[in-house]
Amino acid sequence: MLTSYQLESPALTWGEDGAPHSNQFDDVYFDKESGLEETRHVFLKNNQLSERWASLQKNAFVIAETGFGTGLNFLCAWQAFLTEAASDKQLHFISVEKYPMTKSMLTDALKMWPSISHLSQQLIDAYPEVCHGLHRVELEQGRIQLTLWFGEAEDGFAGLDADVDAWFLDGFAPSKNPEMWSDNLFKHIRRLSHQGTTFSTFTAAGIVRRGLKNVGFDVRKVKGFGQKREMTVGELNSPTASLPERMSQGQSWFNLRQDNLQEVTKVLVVGAGLAGANTAYALAKQGIKVEVWEQGNCIAGGASGNPQGMLYPKLASQDTPVNRFYLSAYLHATRLYSSLDKNKQFWDACGLIQIPKHDKEAGRFQKLLDEKLYPEAILQASKDREDSLLLPLSGWVVLTKLCETLLSHENIQVCLNTKLENLSAVEAGGQTVGWQARPKYQEAPFNDQQTRFSHVVLCTANDTKALGVTSNTPDYPIRGQVSFIDIEKAKVACQAIGESTDKIDFDKVLCEFGYVSPSINNLLHFGSTYDLKDLDDQVREEGHKRNLAILESLLLLPKETFNSKDCGGRVSFRCAVPDYTPIVGPVQSEDVYQQAYSTLTKNAKWQSNEVAEPIKQLYINIGHGSRGLISTPLSGSYIASLITGTPSPLEQQVSHKLHPSRFIIRDLKRSQNL
Ligand SMILES: Cc1cc2nc3c(=O)[nH]c(=O)nc-3n(C[C@H](O)[C@H](O)[C@H](O)COP(=O)(O)OP(=O)(O)OC[C@H]3O[C@@H](n4cnc5c(N)ncnc54)[C@H](O)[C@@H]3O)c2cc1C
Ligand SMILES: C[S@@+](CC[C@H](N)C(=O)[O-])C[C@H]1O[C@@H](n2cnc3c(N)ncnc32)[C@H](O)[C@@H]1O
Repeated sequence: MLTSYQLESPALTWGEDGAPHSNQFDDVYFDKESGLEETRHVFLKNNQLSERWASLQKNAFVIAETGFGTGLNFLCAWQAFLTEAASDKQLHFISVEKYPMTKSMLTDALKMWPSISHLSQQLIDAYPEVCHGLHRVELEQGRIQLTLWFGEAEDGFAGLDADVDAWFLDGFAPSKNPEMWSDNLFKHIRRLSHQGTTFSTFTAAGIVRRGLKNVGFDVRKVKGFGQKREMTVGELNSPTASLPERMSQGQSWFNLRQDNLQEVTKVLVVGAGLAGANTAYALAKQGIKVEVWEQGNCIAGGASGNPQGMLYPKLASQDTPVNRFYLSAYLHATRLYSSLDKNKQFWDACGLIQIPKHDKEAGRFQKLLDEKLYPEAILQASKDREDSLLLPLSGWVVLTKLCETLLSHENIQVCLNTKLENLSAVEAGGQTVGWQARPKYQEAPFNDQQTRFSHVVLCTANDTKALGVTSNTPDYPIRGQVSFIDIEKAKVACQAIGESTDKIDFDKVLCEFGYVSPSINNLLHFGSTYDLKDLDDQVREEGHKRNLAILESLLLLPKETFNSKDCGGRVSFRCAVPDYTPIVGPVQSEDVYQQAYSTLTKNAKWQSNEVAEPIKQLYINIGHGSRGLISTPLSGSYIASLITGTPSPLEQQVSHKLHPSRFIIRDLKRSQNL
């Protein structure tokens, strides 16, 4: 468990020519005379990338690197890929960095290479916050995907779920940085490689050659770049275990991968809310044709249709896999929204103030600040409100516009008034090879061919169980009513009791027992109620009253300043999960699991790499509770990575927490004690 998500910055000395030198390692990031050429020689040429890209059969090529540094290797690979690979192919570049540069360091370091400045600037713009964890950065409309682990290299690779084609083993010289080149690192390099995976490295040090040899690589010394005598290259020529087995790490019940990837022809995403829109968008960006079926007559007609929502990450005071998910998802969502909406049409990163509900919570906030678990850019003390926290990256979203924007991608076709009624597996050779979907009241007549899909993703929130194709997940609906009031009426109400109307003119989202966002379209939106076991879909005045009490507390106004008769509202239903974590991943069979993994009832610590059931190309993405604006973009990218067989944007530990089969496994382990 980490004690802080903050990371040490690199200690740099800048040469007169502007090149960075690491004081921690007393080594250079790149050769200042010939950095670009050296990278191209050592890493691109010696992994035979031009040849491999020119004849690339699969859709994506995966490079993994030790030591992101200034990103120069990444930029060179990106540049070459654009010219050398077919335009429908994707490059996934994974890198790790223990001492991430700040944006301004990166800007300074990359000034040295004007010939690639058009790419450097895009990297700098998209560069994630310096915060421990896994970050997914999408460039060139998704054609280039960067997966960056900020933290210790070994930890990053230990939690990685990816099948790597070529390794760039950079990192400072082993003599100056022996800790990085550990046996465990080599073990994971092997785990993440397949027969035919290559590596190259600038060093010819024995520790590196031996390490790679010991895990099965064929290793050769070749002539180094320029004046340098030697460097090392190699390849994994022996067969490896299957991809599911390699990724299992003893927990095959959380398998996500297929050995022989099913061709992705057309994907059906069911549900046009935040989960469906984000899933469809993530797939569409990878060049996949997606059909979205929505039973309602509009996009975002369910919980995702609230007029204005906010990003409230509820950062925990301890590092846990679930907190890592929300932190990573939060940063991902803010980057996505900013990239989609540069003109504040539906997203305003105005910041959010979290006000303590009581003294105990104020104490917890202070502890969070004192212990510095989070970087200041993510969490700091509010200057506007006593005892409160400021989340500067947060803000509000107009949900419908967001969903419409995501679904407007040219690869997505939305079918409204189209309810998925029935889903049946198409089998061949004892394997599921696709799905036949049957719609109810659809707008256009479909035939069987049109309703056959290679993959299906259910983003159907509370309606998922009714489809009868998933195992018994413990999600349940929670009614929520949001309210809104005309800003002029709110001002009149303030004046009537002698309060300043300035209280209505705030510029950040305020959160306490509920939330209120800065006004849009002359309306102040606030809420919301949280009603368990209540399926009434009508707006209720008592709901407005409860929401107004929240609003008055947030704005430091006396009780009953406002009149519930002046309010409008909307009711919808959250899809909640008892462990407050969404359910995202492949749907597996409960019966098969119970049989295959019954040993867990006798020994909860039992480990297995034997996968009981192949992936059936059916996925769910539900249970986003009260935080769908945060959790759905990363969940969508995650589902897309599983369908396309590309690197996961989630740490394995995190994906296990989201796995739809986690409840079956939990019950098996629990039954041990009965
Ligand atoms: C009152 C309230 C306030 C909230 N405020 C916030 C907030 O400020 N910030 C935040 O992050 N989150 C907030 N949330 C939570 C957020 O709205 C949800 O997490 C999110 O909308 C869930 O998205 P979804 O796509 O999973 O579900 P939904 O938006 O409900 O979408 C599911 C869709 O699937 C469709 N569907 C279901 N079955 C079928 C079928 N068989 N065939 C075809 N279509 C089908 C439905 O019609 C629906 O459109 C709030 C929720 C509520 C209720
Ligand atoms: C030579 S530089 C990499 C240069 C980089 N590839 C580039 O293109 O700019 C080596 C990098 O490895 C990082 N590093 C060193 N030890 C590490 C470790 N144990 N885990 C992760 N990163 C590490 C350093 O901080 C440094 O940025």
